[in-house]
Amino acid sequence: MPSIRVEGVTKRFGKFTALENINISVNDGEYVSIIGPSGCGKTTLLRIIAGIIREYEGHVYVDGELFDDKPLEKRSIGYVFQNIALFPNMNVGGNVSYSPKAKRFDSETIRSVTLEMLELMKLTDRYYDYPTRLSGGMQQKTALARALASGAKLLLLDEPLSLLDLKVRTELRYELRRIVKDLGLTAIHVTHDQEEAMAISDRIIVMRRARVVEEGAPLNLYLRPKEIFTAYFLGESNVLEGSVVESDEKFLKVDVEGVLLKARNTGFKIGEKVVVMIRPELIELVNHGVNGIVMKKIMEGFFIRLIIGIGGMRISVKQPYWRVYGINVGSTVKLSFPEEHVLVYKYPERGLYSEISLY
Ligand SMILES: Nc1ncnc2c1ncn2[C@@H]1O[C@H](COP(=O)(O)OP(=O)(O)OP(=O)(O)O)[C@@H](O)[C@H]1O
Ligand SMILES: [Mg+2]
Repeated sequence: MPSIRVEGVTKRFGKFTALENINISVNDGEYVSIIGPSGCGKTTLLRIIAGIIREYEGHVYVDGELFDDKPLEKRSIGYVFQNIALFPNMNVGGNVSYSPKAKRFDSETIRSVTLEMLELMKLTDRYYDYPTRLSGGMQQKTALARALASGAKLLLLDEPLSLLDLKVRTELRYELRRIVKDLGLTAIHVTHDQEEAMAISDRIIVMRRARVVEEGAPLNLYLRPKEIFTAYFLGESNVLEGSVVESDEKFLKVDVEGVLLKARNTGFKIGEKVVVMIRPELIELVNHGVNGIVMKKIMEGFFIRLIIGIGGMRISVKQPYWRVYGINVGSTVKLSFPEEHVLVYKYPERGLYSEISLY
């Protein structure tokens, strides 16, 4: 049963650092997602764990065994590549049964494993098609079926659902998690889709600029991110600058453009410059609260986004459509900012813009 430990891994391509001192562990049976902006090193990290990249500083252990010198073919890892890479000279059935055949399973097992995985991915009727005849999404599902059929206990999935349409993607993410849990596999799943990461994983690792920013259980990362970048990148956030005007043992009051916001005190003093983050969906429309004026109303399907001005502060509020009947541009609304959702951070030394910039 595979656990993974990545210890002090640094990877440079010439002068460019793609990974900088990465330390992560994945427990046996755990489903971990990695999210982060494009170019932050996610694929590079998977390639190092898989044994595709062999030159790096630091160490990779699987089940406590040092893997740095272990050849790729001896690692027994199921890998779904970001750019798919099916065997072009084999049909769907051939691709999916490749690994069971290579392992010299008996023909009945090969057949049943292959059909089971094809069934799962709803690809059974594509058995005889060659990759060039498949859509991107079908190729991606074939790649997933192939990785699952390999019998590997460790899965490295690089954006495995990115080419599927939303409905199939949403369905497959639950299937994928179920299979991993049912079969006792360990999975690292790279995704750009934060919702997918939240839904599918036991733990999320957030990366930026070659480093790990923060990791944690999905809901904890969403509700209590330790880093401004996490709050900004995972889900949506109003990012505001303010200064502390009241501080006692339990609570703070922060002045944001003349609006006073109450928050839990996590160790700030009066006069300190801070960053305040509030998620648009956690701001409430109430009968008694702070007055604001609706400046914009944007339809987003089931949810409506209101851009609201309160004094000098502009804030984005997201509500289900039925909560905003009769509220239009120019309407006065009353808002409440639940103090447990008003997150206060030390103002970053390098400035706020640099802290939340993606690259
Ligand atoms: N073989 C290589 N030679 C030179 N630079 C490379 C090589 N492979 C990756 N890089 C660089 O390393 C950085 C990290 O690349 P990587 O593919 O790991 O990013 P990523 O997080 O997977 O991005 P994306 O979300 O776009 O897939 C990028 O700036 C990339 O250009
Ligand atoms: Mg990538």
